[in-house]
Amino acid sequence: MSEHRIETKVNGEAVAAHVEARETLADFLRGKLGQTGTHLGCEHGVCGACTVIVDGAPVRACLMLAVQADGTAITTVEGLADPDGTLHPVQQALRDEHGLQCGFCTPGIVMTLAALTADGAKPAEDALKDALTGHICRCTGYQGILRVAQRLAGEAA
Ligand code: FES
Ligand code: FES
Repeated sequence: MSEHRIETKVNGEAVAAHVEARETLADFLRGKLGQTGTHLGCEHGVCGACTVIVDGAPVRACLMLAVQADGTAITTVEGLADPDGTLHPVQQALRDEHGLQCGFCTPGIVMTLAALTADGAKPAEDALKDALTGHICRCTGYQGILRVAQRLAGEAA
């Protein structure tokens, strides 16, 4: 199996590594960098649990190869809260609105909503809800998660 050297930034830290040609970004983040907040559910792009932000856009880490991350900047759920522990507004909203449940799908949802509301963007509630349709929550209690979308649409500034 061929190996390739990549250089990327993960949660603000420069990373240089050798990855196999077939290695997914999700496996690289979890297995090599220990960023296990990125969860793997379906591993074929359906559930959204593995979503991370690559160069500002939400990306399915199970569908992107690690070699494709060369030269990019990646944010995982571990990189969202401030160093002092202050939660990202999306994390705080999920906590306040009881949208966490078992938490397995939560990191992916957080990353999608964080990407959409980055830099003061204020998407319409419908756009946020539409984005949530790309996430399958096995706990099935979507009410709290939908309240988060409502809150972010109202509070993003
Ligand atoms: S694990 Fe990537 S979309 Fe389900
Ligand atoms: S919170 Fe349990 S799978 Fe979504």
